[in-house]
Amino acid sequence: MNPVSVCFVCLGNICRSPTAEGVMRRLVADAGLAAAIDVDSAGTGDWHIGEAPDERARAAAERRGYDLSALRATQIGAADFRRFDLIVAMDDANLAVLRDVCPAAQRGKLRLLMEFAPPPADRVVADPYFGGAAGFETVLDQCEAACAGLLDVLRARLGT
Ligand code: 4NP
Repeated sequence: MNPVSVCFVCLGNICRSPTAEGVMRRLVADAGLAAAIDVDSAGTGDWHIGEAPDERARAAAERRGYDLSALRATQIGAADFRRFDLIVAMDDANLAVLRDVCPAAQRGKLRLLMEFAPPPADRVVADPYFGGAAGFETVLDQCEAACAGLLDVLRARLGT
């Protein structure tokens, strides 16, 4: 495990959190910090375990140069709350589930992704699953803005 680790969490782990993972992985690599920052993602639900990201999410990401094809959906588990330094939810429903299942000692690790976006920012990354293509572009815009802010926070933790 690297010095700092972050796990993005949505409902299915096939749209929003893999997008955030792909964006963050790129930012971390570009900053030369791949050996210092671990990036992962998971879902609160179990419906899509083992699946690649949603085709629409993959296509939208690919148009911006992010390759999500190697990612596979997992469900957040008890060990993850110990393993990761920050657990970053996409929306309030995700955060509520995380608060329910997270051991009390680790609740301070829970965040909303958009807390890291420069203000004024939306509060949440809305679920694009049942909507049109524009929703996936919004998810990417939000992830790009928030992950840049998150990287600054992690850099501060690392002292780099
Ligand atoms: P995600 O999107 O939470 O961003 O991965 C969803 C994926 C699947 C479902 C809902 C949202 N679903 O109902 O299967």
